[in-house]
Amino acid sequence: MIVTRAPGKLFIAGEYAVVEPGEPAVLIAVDRFLTVRLTPSDDVGRVHSREYGQAPVVWTRAEGPEHSVNIVVEHEPYDYVVSAITLMERLRDERSLPAHYFDLHIESDLDDSSGRKFGLGSSAAVTVAVVAALDEFYEMGLSRTERFRLALLSTITVAPNASGGDVAASTFGGWIRYSAPDRVTLRESLERHGVTKALTSPGWSPHRVDRLPDPSSLELLVGWTGSPASTERLVGGVRPPSGRTASPYESFVDESRDCVDALVECLRADDGPRALEVIGRARRLLQHLGETSGIRIETDELRLLCDLAEQHGTAAKPSGAGGGDCGIVLAPADAPLQTLLSSWEARDIRRLDMSVQHLQGAT
Ligand code: MEV
Repeated sequence: MIVTRAPGKLFIAGEYAVVEPGEPAVLIAVDRFLTVRLTPSDDVGRVHSREYGQAPVVWTRAEGPEHSVNIVVEHEPYDYVVSAITLMERLRDERSLPAHYFDLHIESDLDDSSGRKFGLGSSAAVTVAVVAALDEFYEMGLSRTERFRLALLSTITVAPNASGGDVAASTFGGWIRYSAPDRVTLRESLERHGVTKALTSPGWSPHRVDRLPDPSSLELLVGWTGSPASTERLVGGVRPPSGRTASPYESFVDESRDCVDALVECLRADDGPRALEVIGRARRLLQHLGETSGIRIETDELRLLCDLAEQHGTAAKPSGAGGGDCGIVLAPADAPLQTLLSSWEARDIRRLDMSVQHLQGAT
């Protein structure tokens, strides 16, 4: 049996603007994981996941016109797992490696006991873990950067707007500064030239991942509103159809870049007090984006979560797309966290216990 696991993520700053190629965000990986167990099988492939209910998703291979492998799924929609299997099977075929069937068992601590997602990047984590499992199964010997690129190529065939920040956090771990590639060019490369060529497409050029130091002067606290959000819908509503130069979206992107640059400086200097100011600015920026786009990024629950945190001398903001999910709090070491936690509890805001997850190994 092959077992792989990928961590969840949180956005610290730069969400939304990061969907524009080259625009930066800061993210962390957290010590909550999605686990994939792979066992070889004979006749068909199966995917077992709580999301699919009792019956597994069953898939088989078929010849396709473009690239020689297509995955045929019996009754489920095309999703992140099927997309990752399809992409990795195409790569296997391009490398002339023999095909085998396999079963995947997926387990996650990125959602609660009734299956409600926390908003910790479970789609990215499942993609990263499936790519890693198939890399091992077919003994492809991929580098971490190649696995990241494959997981992102797989993600954007399901969610074309996705920046891939969560895929990067889940692949590289720790604190990172991330900027996205040009996914339109990547999708074209993939469709026209196949997986191997798409791995070195010119579309990657605006993209970067830089590791950042852990700030010792700050504590991280995460609150969960209990209402799951739909990232695709939110991003689709915020980005103007005419593109990034539409005002006031353009000034949002500029201010977001300033905020991320300032935060990166604070993290490199371990300047906790200034980092808190920057997080406050990032919250106001998202509030303003919500007002100008008419999209509820900061819901009533998120507002309460963040307001209570700010009243206790910390900085807080929605993490990721907002619209529900989690809020992050960065607190100075001496902040009265116990009273903040009690005030959250009294308002049904749950603390999600987690800390930053580093991953071993080279890129
Ligand atoms: C969602 O977690 C974060 C967004 O920036 C979208 C993305 O980066 O793909 C809103």
